[in-house]
Amino acid sequence: MTIYFPNKNDEWYTLPYAVEPILEFLKPNSNILCPFDTKDSEYVNVLMNAGHNVTYRHIKEGSDFFDLEDKDVLLFDYIISNPPYSLRKQVFNKLEELNKPFAMLVPLVSIALKPIREKLQDKQLLLFDKRIKFKSEEGMICKNPPSETAYICKNILPKQIIFKELKYT
Ligand SMILES: C[S@@+](CC[C@H](N)C(=O)[O-])C[C@H]1O[C@@H](n2cnc3c(N)ncnc32)[C@H](O)[C@@H]1O
Repeated sequence: MTIYFPNKNDEWYTLPYAVEPILEFLKPNSNILCPFDTKDSEYVNVLMNAGHNVTYRHIKEGSDFFDLEDKDVLLFDYIISNPPYSLRKQVFNKLEELNKPFAMLVPLVSIALKPIREKLQDKQLLLFDKRIKFKSEEGMICKNPPSETAYICKNILPKQIIFKELKYT
């Protein structure tokens, strides 16, 4: 059994207002995998409340994203989440391998990562007018997030770049 040691820098959680903008681009009643999420994740809550069928997995519950195989994702329409940033290059490599439509909320500079820039033509960006705030493990909202984040998507948005106004609630 592999023992998981969390990287403290990866433990930042998404607020509902940063999940909601993706909703309008999803087909109704989709099957969605949230691979970095527990039942308390706002991805799980917001997507379920919007009528989607959501499956969530998290390393601390013994489900390592990197163990997923093609057969495990066959039934999903999308893979959506905010992944661990310390592993984002590996995450995008794995997403390429799984070859499913995805939306990942990551620092905007991630477009320069090899797995993204190598196939930039099939990626899409959902950009925002404000810096997204995240929540710490202790429930504190980070008022000055260190980076601009955006959704890097594949086969989800109708155009390559979309700008949206964020409504912080
Ligand atoms: C940036 S946090 C975001 C959590 C959640 N998706 C959200 O937006 O609120 C990323 C999470 O992925 C978890 N994680 C790290 N490595 C993982 C792996 N290999 N498989 C699944 N989850 C992992 C971390 O422990 C962390 O809680």
